[in-house]
Amino acid sequence: MKYKELFTPVQIGTLTIKNRFAMAPMGPLGLEDSEGGWNQRGIDYYTERAKGGTGLIITGVTFSDQKVEKQDAYVIPNSTYRPVHFVRTSKEMTERVHAYGSKIFLQMSGGFGRVTIPTNVGEIPPVAPSAIPHRWLDKICRAITKEEIRSIVKSFGDGAYNAMRGGFDGVQIHAVHEGYLLDQFAISMFNHRKDEYGGSLENRLRFAREVVEEIKGRCGRDFPVTLRFSLKSMIKDWRVGALPGEEFEEMGRDVEEGLEAARLLESYGYDALDTDVGTYDAWWWNHPPMYQEKGLYRSYCAKVKKAVKIPVFCAGRMDDPDMALEAIQNQECDVIVRCV
Ligand SMILES: Cc1cc2nc3c(=O)[nH]c(=O)nc-3n(C[C@H](O)[C@H](O)[C@H](O)COP(=O)(O)O)c2cc1C
Repeated sequence: MKYKELFTPVQIGTLTIKNRFAMAPMGPLGLEDSEGGWNQRGIDYYTERAKGGTGLIITGVTFSDQKVEKQDAYVIPNSTYRPVHFVRTSKEMTERVHAYGSKIFLQMSGGFGRVTIPTNVGEIPPVAPSAIPHRWLDKICRAITKEEIRSIVKSFGDGAYNAMRGGFDGVQIHAVHEGYLLDQFAISMFNHRKDEYGGSLENRLRFAREVVEEIKGRCGRDFPVTLRFSLKSMIKDWRVGALPGEEFEEMGRDVEEGLEAARLLESYGYDALDTDVGTYDAWWWNHPPMYQEKGLYRSYCAKVKKAVKIPVFCAGRMDDPDMALEAIQNQECDVIVRCV
């Protein structure tokens, strides 16, 4: 009875999740087949989590774009590569997940940009909002064109539509978080554009806005579109991150701008914000090792929760049921996200 609030339902738009637990998105390497769909191992893996009682499963990140930042479809599932195949294997998975009363969202990537993993960029200069240094390589990224932005946005609509046909209950957009391509657009340090995608915060969030509008246009207003969102970047300088407890001047997104971004993203139609802090320049925040304190995103989630009406998800070493209960009771967040 003590923990009963953790087992109360929560609404994401019109969708009801049976309890307050979500499985954290974790890169689905090894769960895909050679045609960009889910393999049997992937289907069984997510079904086991549903069997365990998780209210919401968020898949690891998947791709929809095949032109701008070409990823091998046999490394990570791709929702547009072979649509019929993707829909069929997704259905096999989502039907089994639904049989246990769980819901499942497909996490969809907007691309890596300046944080591409060195092994998958080859000789081609990576793209970014502007000509800025790559995170690891001694390369300057190529500024992405407006046509390429449009192409990625369209692929989100196609991919989300395939996800819906495959029985997914919603999607999570990856991400105005961790310094991925959509986040690079949002952060002025990385975005020096002079067109309508650069300058004001509204302009820098235009790409993320077009993504949610495209998906809602294709899948209907009630299809949940959630967002992975980092309230604060924790960047001291290019490739230099802040340590826990350190006083520093934020070069990325600070809390004030993050809260304004959260309000704008809600107004654009996002149905929930899966909130953390950090970037690839300060990776120990987004992927907290054991020396980070438990519940390290709680205070940041609480700020976002006060700024918006949509549900806030909170990951980050939330592996203590008493702490999880306290976070829900204190209205710091609505959903507890766990890597399980
Ligand atoms: C192996 C692994 C893979 C991950 N892959 C993703 C991913 O694909 N998308 C994403 O948004 N977060 C990803 N994350 C971050 C987690 O979703 C989560 O936010 C983070 O691990 C903090 O929660 P924790 O302290 O409970 O691990 C990954 C984490 C791990 C451990």
